[in-house]
Amino acid sequence: MDRDIRNIVILTGAGISAESGLATFRGPDGLWEGHRVEDVCTPVALARNPALVHRFYDERRAKLGGVKPNPAHEALAALDAAWPGELLLVTQNVDDLHERAGAKRLIHMHGELRSALCAACGKAVSWTASLPPETACTGCGKSRLRPDIVFFGEMPYEMDAIDDAIRRADLFVSIGTSGAVYPAAGFVQTARHVGARTLELNLDPSAGSFYFDESRMGPASVLVPQLVRELLA
Ligand code: APR
Repeated sequence: MDRDIRNIVILTGAGISAESGLATFRGPDGLWEGHRVEDVCTPVALARNPALVHRFYDERRAKLGGVKPNPAHEALAALDAAWPGELLLVTQNVDDLHERAGAKRLIHMHGELRSALCAACGKAVSWTASLPPETACTGCGKSRLRPDIVFFGEMPYEMDAIDDAIRRADLFVSIGTSGAVYPAAGFVQTARHVGARTLELNLDPSAGSFYFDESRMGPASVLVPQLVRELLA
């Protein structure tokens, strides 16, 4: 690995949590297989059938207690703690495995299962139990709490901070994502545009493999610890 890497941006997707036992979205057992996306991950779905949407996320939130971080999450947390330069971990995942592994410099661009968002006042509150529709917001009191998940068609969180970090990056690493969903799938192109080295770690080639300087195929639990060893050597 080049010696002149100072600033790193790492994007993760469902593949990094697969070996912890959480289903990915587009694999054979994908979450979306069980549910039509239109049924559970759009503002229209939430308005049309709040009970179904809340139940879908309640099921996923409840699963978090039964899974734990895997060596890939742990390696990234160790890198975060040890890396002297800038480092930003951007996850598309809504599970809490990165933070449970100890990651600090972390952004959940698609929201978090363990957070509820008030559709009236915009306040986000930590939430670990089930979240029935019409739950009252602890801030404004209105019964408008919803899952704090960025639905298709909604703006992901902290896009300015993410874009700034990528524009300063010397290395951009994409881990466990199919490259099927924008804007995350476009980050590699911004990284290339600013001259960052681009590396993909994935089980299969992603839709964006073409854009990466290097693609390493294999399970994250093997490839990520190996990459962190290279970076910290
Ligand atoms: N190690 C590494 N990669 C893996 C592993 C593994 N053990 N298992 C699966 N993968 C890879 C798959 O090859 C696939 O390319 O992880 C990727 C998972 O892709 P998706 O299921 O599409 O998940 P993701 O890319 O995170 O989806 C992006 O789409 O549905 C929306 O908002 C949702 O954040 C999600 C976004």
